[in-house]
Amino acid sequence: MTRKITFKLSIILLLSLVLAGCGGQGSFENETNPEVLARSCIGCHGTDLSGRSAPSLLELDGKYNEQEIAEIILNGLGRMPQMKNFSEEQASLLADWLLEKQQ
Ligand code: HEC
Repeated sequence: MTRKITFKLSIILLLSLVLAGCGGQGSFENETNPEVLARSCIGCHGTDLSGRSAPSLLELDGKYNEQEIAEIILNGLGRMPQMKNFSEEQASLLADWLLEKQQ
């Protein structure tokens, strides 16, 4: 009896993991790896973040602090749309990581 329930529960858990993995935008609810989070930026800021249709993200030093970068991610800036799939925590994590990468 209990074993059956455990089996059902693990199927449900497995399914939700698979679904979470395939959802695309808005799906990385628990993602805390900044390199994965940064994939949301490369379409405009370039695969190495050094700039493409949008400015470089490697020359932000002195321009913005962590809080300000997090706000840009959450609210957008000028022609940049807000990143709707980011939580505040994820925005701070990514901002922190970006500041460490400055050249
Ligand atoms: C749809 C394209 C697009 C995406 C996706 C995007 N950006 Fe931007 N971003 C822009 C554009 C365009 C600008 C320039 C905004 C302006 O000055 O009008 C910009 C500007 C910025 C700036 C300010 C740069 C400066 O030198 O003043 C930061 C910081 C930034 N983006 C961070 C991010 C981060 C972090 C991500 C990923 C979470 C991201 N952006 C995703 C288009 C994008």
